[in-house]
Amino acid sequence: MRDQELEHAYSDGDVDTNLTDNRDLGSIVDERYSRRQTLMGGLGASTAAFLGTSLLAACDLDVFNDDNGLGAFFITAGNSGTTTSGNLVTLSGTQGAGTANSTLWTQVGGPAVQLTGATTNTASFIAPAVSSATPLEFRFEASGANGQSSAQNTTVTVTPAVLGFAPVAKNLNDVVTVPAGYTVTVLTRLGDPIAAGVGAYANDGSDSNFAQRIGDHGDALYYYGLDAAGARDDNSSTRGLMVQNFENISEQYLHPNGPSPAPRPEAEALKEIEAHGVGVVEYRDGGNRQWSYVQNSAFNRRITPNTPVVFNGPVRGTDFLRTVFSADGTAGRGTINNCANGHTLWGTNLTCEENWSGYFRRDNSGAGTDNAARTERELTALRRYGVNSTSGNNAWSSVPGADSRFRRWDARATGASATADYRNEPNTFGWVVEFDPYNPNSVPRKRTALGRMGHEGAWLGRLTSGRKVAVYQGDDARREYFYKFVSTAAWDPADAQAADRLAIGDKYLDSGTLYVAKFNADGTGTWVPLVHGQVPNRPAVGTAPEYVFANQADILVNTRLAADAVGATPMDRPEWTSTNYVTGEIYLTLTNNNAGGRPLTGTDAANPRHYNDPKGASNSAQRGNPNGHILRLRETGDDPAATTFAWDIYLFGADSATADPANVNLSGLTADNDFSSPDGIWFSRPQNPAGLVNPLLWIQTDDGALTDRTNCMMLAALPGTTGDGGTRTITNTDANGATATQTTRVGAAATAATLKRFLVGPKQCEITGVDSTPDGRTLFVGIQHPGEAGDTASPSSNWPQSQTGTASGRPRSAVVAITRDDGGVVGL
Ligand code: FEO
Ligand code: CA
Ligand code: CA
Repeated sequence: MRDQELEHAYSDGDVDTNLTDNRDLGSIVDERYSRRQTLMGGLGASTAAFLGTSLLAACDLDVFNDDNGLGAFFITAGNSGTTTSGNLVTLSGTQGAGTANSTLWTQVGGPAVQLTGATTNTASFIAPAVSSATPLEFRFEASGANGQSSAQNTTVTVTPAVLGFAPVAKNLNDVVTVPAGYTVTVLTRLGDPIAAGVGAYANDGSDSNFAQRIGDHGDALYYYGLDAAGARDDNSSTRGLMVQNFENISEQYLHPNGPSPAPRPEAEALKEIEAHGVGVVEYRDGGNRQWSYVQNSAFNRRITPNTPVVFNGPVRGTDFLRTVFSADGTAGRGTINNCANGHTLWGTNLTCEENWSGYFRRDNSGAGTDNAARTERELTALRRYGVNSTSGNNAWSSVPGADSRFRRWDARATGASATADYRNEPNTFGWVVEFDPYNPNSVPRKRTALGRMGHEGAWLGRLTSGRKVAVYQGDDARREYFYKFVSTAAWDPADAQAADRLAIGDKYLDSGTLYVAKFNADGTGTWVPLVHGQVPNRPAVGTAPEYVFANQADILVNTRLAADAVGATPMDRPEWTSTNYVTGEIYLTLTNNNAGGRPLTGTDAANPRHYNDPKGASNSAQRGNPNGHILRLRETGDDPAATTFAWDIYLFGADSATADPANVNLSGLTADNDFSSPDGIWFSRPQNPAGLVNPLLWIQTDDGALTDRTNCMMLAALPGTTGDGGTRTITNTDANGATATQTTRVGAAATAATLKRFLVGPKQCEITGVDSTPDGRTLFVGIQHPGEAGDTASPSSNWPQSQTGTASGRPRSAVVAITRDDGGVVGL
C-alpha cells in the first residue's frame, strides 16, 4: 500500500448495510444528508463553514503505511484503500475550522469489526480474516451544536492474510532476533519470585525456595484469560494466567559452583526437584501491550514434583500404583519432566510427563541388582520404559536420611512388599496431568485413560457438538508411536463454561478408547484400539518373554508394550501435535532420528528419509533423519472418532545449503525458511485473524543438526491441506554408498509466501512454548536452556541479560512477549 494514490471515495448516501448494533445509520445518514443540503442552501455562514470544513478538509489526502515496512494502515475519511488481514487500520476524520460537538465513526458495510475510539476523530480496528478481497465501509460524522451534521464514507478493502514480515536470517547471536518492526520483552525468567516476600533472584546459585519461584527449562505454555474482577475470561487480552511447564534443569547454574557429587546435599537436591514442574503466574498488560507479571497474585502457583496429586481413570486403585505413600494406589506426588501440553475448552491445562524414567534409581546392570527382586513381567515393563539407571538423574535418592521426598526416587524393590517401598513409583509418572489454573488449591488429576508413555503433549482435536472428544499424543523417543484418545462422552458445548472444570475433565478424559496409529504406504492410516481382549500378547523380544496383558489397566500402564503388540508404526520421535481449527487436520512434528533408529533399510512411507546432513567445517556426518519432518492427517469424515485417516508429510526439515533437492530437501526450503528438528507446533488461536480462514502455523525447533549455521528458531507458515502435493519416490543413501528407494506422500513445496523464519533464539537454547493473547497482538514464546553447554565459570550464553546489551551473568530460561510496534496481529 505504500505511497498508493487513492481516489476520492466520497460516497455519502451510498449505504446499503449496517452491521453494527448501534444505530440504523442508513436511515439516519440519509436523513441528515437531506438536512445538510437544506442547511447549506439556506443558513448562515458559520454553519456552512462548519459543515463545509468538517466534510471537505479530508479530501485529497493519501493513504499511507507506517515506516517499518509492516502493514499498519492509516486512512483518512474520504479516502479508500486496501490492506491485509490482521493489520491495524486507523481511520482519521478531520474537522476544519468549525467545531463539532461530537464525532462518530461507524461501520456501515462489510463484515463487522470492533472499532476502537469510535467517538473520536481517530478510530481503529484490526482487519478481519477474509477469504477474498472484502470491502468494509465506514462513516465519519461530525455533529454541530444545532443538530447539523456532515458525514463522509471511507472504504477499506481487506485481502487475505499473508506472512507480513521480512524473514529473519539464520544466526548464532546471543539474543532473540525478530523481524524489523517487532519488539521482544523478557517476562518471567528462571528464579523470578512469584509470591509476596520472596526475594529477587540473585542468579549466583545462592537462591532457594523454588516452590515459590519460576522453575527451570520453561517449556510449553498457555495463556488463560482473566477479566478485571479476576474471573475466567477466554477473550481477555490484557490480563491472564501464564501456565508454563518446567521440564528440566541446567543444574550447573543452580548452585554456587555447580552440583555436589553424591551423596547429594539435601538443600541442593530439594532445589533441583522444586525447579521442575509447572507454574501459574498472573500477567498484566499495563497498557498497549506493556506486559509484566504480578509477583503477589493470589493465582500464582507452583506445582512441583512434591505437590499432592490423585489418579483418575482405569488405573486408579490398581496394584500398579500401590506404594508406601499410597497403599490403595489412588494418590501420588507431583509431576516431572513436563514437556508439551494441551488446553481444554473447559479451561484446564493438560501437562505431560515426558522423560521421567531417567530420574529413578533401579540398576539393571546385572546380578545382585534390582533385577533379582523383580518378576519377568515387571522387568519387561521396566526395560521397555528405560527405568534402568544405577543412580537416577541428579542422584536425588542419595540424600542421606529417610525423607521420602528423596527416598521415592529409589525404585528398587527393597521392602517386603510394594506398599513398603517405591518399586511402583515409576508407574506414577508418564501420564497426562489435568489441573485447573484458575483454582490454585485444586488437586491435579492424572488421567490414566490416556495411557502411559514418554508423553510429549496432549492436544485436543476440533470439538464439535454431539461428537466425541479426541486427544492426540506423541510419545517422544526414537521409534515410538503416535496415539489418539477418544472420549466415551460426546461433546456438549455447555460444558465449556462449567464452574467445576475438573469434573468436566472427569467426564471426557476418564472414559474412552486409546488408539495407536498405523501408517499405510498409500497415504491412508488406521487407528488401532488398545483395548484388552483385542490386543494380542506382546511377542518375545530378545531376552524378554512374551507379555500377556492382564487387564485394561495393564494396557494403560504398559501402553508401549500394547502398541508393539498391535504392530503400530514406529516413528522418528513424535513431538507436539496441533489442530487446524478450520480444516480439523492434525499436525505432528517428528523431530529427528539417528541411523540406528532409521537405517537405510528401515524407512517407510511416513518416515521415508535416510540421508547425511554434514555439519560444520569438518563436515562431520549426521545420518538417519537428522532434520526431521512434519506429518499431518485428516480423519475420515472429519470425525474425531474415525478409525481411519488420510495423511501426508507437510514439510521436511533440511539444510538448504547442501541438501539434495531430489531426495532430501523435499519441501524446497531456502535460506529464508530452512530448519531442522521441529518440535513445538501450534496453530494460532481461532479468536483472531491469524487463526481463521487460513490459520497461521508456528513451528519451533529443538535442534542439534543445523546448529553450525544457526541457533534454534521459530517459523511461521500458511500451510495447505493434506494431499496438496503428491506421491514421490526418493533414493536414500547410507554411509557405504548403498541406496534404497522409498515412496512417500509429499505436501506442496514451501514458498516464500507460505513459510518464513520469524525468530532465532540465543545461544544453545531451544525454542519451545508458544501461545498468544486471544487478540493475537501479543505472542508469548518460551526460550529454554540458553547456554546449556556452558558452566558456572564460563557461561556460554548471557541471555536474557544479553537481550538488552549486558554480556555477563548466568543464562536463564524465560518467556518473552513479542509484539508488533504498529499494534497489528503478530505474524500477519
Ligand atoms: Fe521435551 Fe520431546 O521434547
Ligand atoms: Ca549441515
Ligand atoms: Ca519438546
